[in-house]
Amino acid sequence: MNELEQNLVQIVRLAIAEQIDDVRLYVARLVRKYRVTNPELAEQLDMYLRSRPSRSNSVLRKSAAPKDSSHAVPVDDESRLSLLKAFRDEPGRVQPLLSSDLEELLGQLVQERKQAGKLIALGLRPTRSAMFVGEPGVGKTLTARWLASQLNVPLFVLDLTAVMSSLLGRSGTNLRAALDFAKSTPCVLLLDEIDAVAKRRSDDADIGELKRLVTVILQEVDEWPPDGLLLGATNHPELIDPALWRRFDLIVKFGMPEQDAVREALRLYLGPDYAVFGRWAEVLTQAFAGESFSDIEREAHRFRRALALGASDDKTLVEDFLRGRMTSIERSKRIPLAVQLSKDSGLSQHAISDITGVSRDTIRKHTTGSPS
Ligand SMILES: Nc1ncnc2c1ncn2[C@@H]1O[C@H](COP(=O)(O)OP(=O)(O)O)[C@@H](O)[C@H]1O
Ligand SMILES: [Mg+2]
Repeated sequence: MNELEQNLVQIVRLAIAEQIDDVRLYVARLVRKYRVTNPELAEQLDMYLRSRPSRSNSVLRKSAAPKDSSHAVPVDDESRLSLLKAFRDEPGRVQPLLSSDLEELLGQLVQERKQAGKLIALGLRPTRSAMFVGEPGVGKTLTARWLASQLNVPLFVLDLTAVMSSLLGRSGTNLRAALDFAKSTPCVLLLDEIDAVAKRRSDDADIGELKRLVTVILQEVDEWPPDGLLLGATNHPELIDPALWRRFDLIVKFGMPEQDAVREALRLYLGPDYAVFGRWAEVLTQAFAGESFSDIEREAHRFRRALALGASDDKTLVEDFLRGRMTSIERSKRIPLAVQLSKDSGLSQHAISDITGVSRDTIRKHTTGSPS
């Protein structure tokens, strides 16, 4: 038998066994295989593939899911690196600090899934896709993990920068493989650094491969199975193709941590050593204003390591840290910080002035001037 005949037999075998999801996977594979050698055939197959929603329901699919290697996490043929990073967190294991707005928004997203029946009865459907926007280190990935754990499914993270850096001509195949895999199993899929595709597209507008990548993603957002959740994350919203932007059901903006969140983060990251650093909590909270959670975490962990080694004490660590921070804190914020330091630390005004660059006169004026 020639190759096409073998494909036909395979399709019939799967179709007769009513393994509809496997038929879809197989056809998707054929589309990729024939895209170059027989584009007309590939296009026809692709059209039928897209003409029907991707999945029956998850119960059916679970029982029909093949146990063979076709369900292993896909890897790039060249590097053999796994394209998808998988997280399987127990509910309650990861808990991001979120503003009350975000907590509400994301809480609803979870409830929409848990009470999907209510929505469907009214002709509504749960949110299928969301775009996370925010600076690095504010909890986009962490929140994706939390969502997946709440929904009791794994999170797969596809780093689009990594996909893009895989050999040109393979990135499309790699992306497809990853998307097909994620569609074949109940999960949350996070397309991390989704701007990587958009950016590259505008840089090398003539490279058809990259244009196709965006097209692939566009189609997927529209067709994402209702029991899956597709997330995108970016810290460059301005680079996102507006057509892509529009297709996401929900936009979630992650801001820099607010003061209360900074305070909580310090408590969280200092762990048992909070007992030692607690008296610096207010000063540190002010000094960390405008920094991301991951920056706060990094410093807190450095403090803890130094303390554990006996290399330094809390006072020296905090003083040195503050000294380094002062250049990036504007003067109007340095004054209250100096005042706080004078309240909490027992340091002399001379020392505080030396650390903060605020004159002793100003410190004196603000500490004695305020009603206490
Ligand atoms: N909202 C948050 N609550 C608690 N910790 C956070 C939060 N955001 C970031 N972190 C800490 O910083 C690390 C990096 O965060 P991550 O979610 O990867 O940021 P992003 O994806 O936005 O760049 C996390 O592993 C966590 O330790
Ligand atoms: Mg991230």
